[in-house]
Amino acid sequence: MSARKIIIDTDPGQDDAVAILLALASPEEIEVLGITAVAGNVPLPLTEKNARIVCELAGKPETKVFAGCDVPMRRPLVTAEHVHGKTGLDGPELPDPVMALQDQHAVDFIIETLRAEPSGTVTLCPLGPLTNIATAFTRAPDIVARVQEIVLMGGAYFEVGNITPTAEFNIYVDPEAADIVFKSGAPIVVMPLDVTHKALVTQPRNDAFRALDTAVGIAVAQMTDFFERFDKEKYGSAGAPLHDPCVTAYLIWPDLFTGRHINVEIETTSELTLGMTVADWWRVTDRAPNATFMGDIDADGFFTLLTERLARL
Ligand code: RIB
Ligand code: CA
Repeated sequence: MSARKIIIDTDPGQDDAVAILLALASPEEIEVLGITAVAGNVPLPLTEKNARIVCELAGKPETKVFAGCDVPMRRPLVTAEHVHGKTGLDGPELPDPVMALQDQHAVDFIIETLRAEPSGTVTLCPLGPLTNIATAFTRAPDIVARVQEIVLMGGAYFEVGNITPTAEFNIYVDPEAADIVFKSGAPIVVMPLDVTHKALVTQPRNDAFRALDTAVGIAVAQMTDFFERFDKEKYGSAGAPLHDPCVTAYLIWPDLFTGRHINVEIETTSELTLGMTVADWWRVTDRAPNATFMGDIDADGFFTLLTERLARL
């Protein structure tokens, strides 16, 4: 089976970094057409720089990295340095990137690629706020029907919020963008906190990264060591939740995940519940299903896959 062509839209972020590394380590299953950076965990100048740092850490400096939107569609940017640190990639000491940033704007790259590639052959993998994706869909509505699938990390239902009592960060930062994407009609697979909070980097799992004894293995162990503070303090978690790598793992081994095809809508008006993903998990409304919302993961299988693939880099 030929590799799946994807665009990773991202706001690195330690967990984004691991998702990118897993994708770049899996060329049989995944062909990364480009990486588009968006403002989110940290401002855009840092997310695009971090994306290039990660590509060089993977030994793939030929990967095309593009800078996208630096603010949400209709709101001021909210960032998450309290989780990811000032650089967005705190933990390991990694060198500044040498590889160039692409001149083209990320939104133009997304539009151009979807128009150039055969319809239905490109998957979009958003790992941050949906600003770039929604801006592309708004500027070029013709590309929506050409998307093979959107596999995104965002939202929450049983787990409720991580940035407010009701909202997950990626959706909360740009709820209007999320609303556009979830109403677009494109096929969507959602990796919410309900799943990602079960993908925890426990000490034995972190030890397995470090035991790879490679630059990648040690960097990932250091990233997840840093990244776990927030969740350990807030939730008493047994380790850092690897949110974004769930997207990449789904592309490689979808059976790791189980979920339901349901209606998911985004709260964009109430200040109290702004950015909530209102998931009709129990199908109590007649609202049409528009997303496959994941609810469970084979965490051991996920970490076995991840560790094996990281060992390749
Ligand atoms: O809420 C978790 C999500 O927000 C992850 O994608 C993390 O990287 C941040 O972007
Ligand atoms: Ca992210």
